[in-house]
Amino acid sequence: MKKLFLFCLAVAATMTLRAADDLSLPDPLLTRAGEKVTTIDQWQKGRRQEILELFRENIYGRAPIGRPDTLRFDVKEVDTHAMNGKATLKRVEIHFSGPGGKGMISLSVFIPNKAKKPVPGFLLICNQDRDNIDPTRIKKSPYWPAERIVERGYVAATFLNADLDPDQHDGFKNGVHGIFDPQNSKRSPEAWGTIAAWAWGASRVMDYLETDKDIDKIRLGVVGHSRGGKTTLWCGAEDERFALVISNNSGSTGAALARNKKGEQIKRINTSFPHWFCENYKKFNEKENDLPVDQHELLSLMAPRLVYVASATQDEWADPKNEFLSCVHAEPVYRLFGLRGVEATQMPNPEQPLHTGHIGHHIRIGKHDLTEYDWDRFMDFADIHWKQGQQSPKSDTLPTTPQK
Ligand code: GCU
Repeated sequence: MKKLFLFCLAVAATMTLRAADDLSLPDPLLTRAGEKVTTIDQWQKGRRQEILELFRENIYGRAPIGRPDTLRFDVKEVDTHAMNGKATLKRVEIHFSGPGGKGMISLSVFIPNKAKKPVPGFLLICNQDRDNIDPTRIKKSPYWPAERIVERGYVAATFLNADLDPDQHDGFKNGVHGIFDPQNSKRSPEAWGTIAAWAWGASRVMDYLETDKDIDKIRLGVVGHSRGGKTTLWCGAEDERFALVISNNSGSTGAALARNKKGEQIKRINTSFPHWFCENYKKFNEKENDLPVDQHELLSLMAPRLVYVASATQDEWADPKNEFLSCVHAEPVYRLFGLRGVEATQMPNPEQPLHTGHIGHHIRIGKHDLTEYDWDRFMDFADIHWKQGQQSPKSDTLPTTPQK
């Protein structure tokens, strides 16, 4: 049985490499100097840093600061009877300041009262309007089904991306760019864009979450849809404290491979949203093959943590096929860790989730959106990997523990 499994892995590896060659994808396990990466140590200390730097320099840009010394948490409200007594709501203000002024993130957290503490959970980076994340729960939205998340035994936390940076091209004057960018000097072509600013915000929220004793800081997922999904991937690459990184319908410069991409391509995204990425990214307009990285390598930066890519059948702009191929081509890095990746080389059927490996995937039937179906699949995946046994994989699926 074990031999058969190893044989299948070898065949799958060959197929993956062949497909990678066809697309001329950069090999995550080959350094720029042409050295093959064969050990975890070479990956962690060398190649991972190299890939991360390439993404900073060419795509998302470089944040000028990590955790500011001025960071301060102000717990404004603790309501132990939220959601009819099912949850405790905490409303926290996360304050910071820099040479250009002050900023604040408003965080809402629901912690299930009945769950054993500390409780694992999900942080949503909300890029829709405020009504979707109403902490009073007068307004409810499938985009953030907080009651459902709590019912399934998880923490539901969220903040608005606009707290960090409004989604407009204003020459990087407002938001955290205005607060932290070097004053009076010309902007570098590697300076952070708006996606990196939102990702930085999720890390500041993590700075708070890891201080809260009710929350399981080693089992926290970051979730985002579309531009929010591009943000979660960049956040998870930069901040290894997130144990699970979920990108929903993230498409161009999110989960989808740039090479051979259908729907939105680099030139289009840089034209419609000139503030999302660093200036250098514009060099790759209509030149996706010149990129020194591709998006499967962004996924590979999550290894050995969990990563999840969700697509929708009608979301051609995002390109579900290239979102899936990214998962396939990130897999060799997971295998270096002795872990399983997405465990498929062919596009799966709609609503047949792939959950047994460390790279999760599903394709929902329907349009570009974040729905309760998606959230339920994210929680199924977390159940399998975090709460072993509670909702274990079917007996005919393979275990998720590292292979010796
Ligand atoms: C636009 C954009 C996408 C993005 C989406 C969204 O469609 O072209 O790249 O993912 O907006 O954030 O909703």
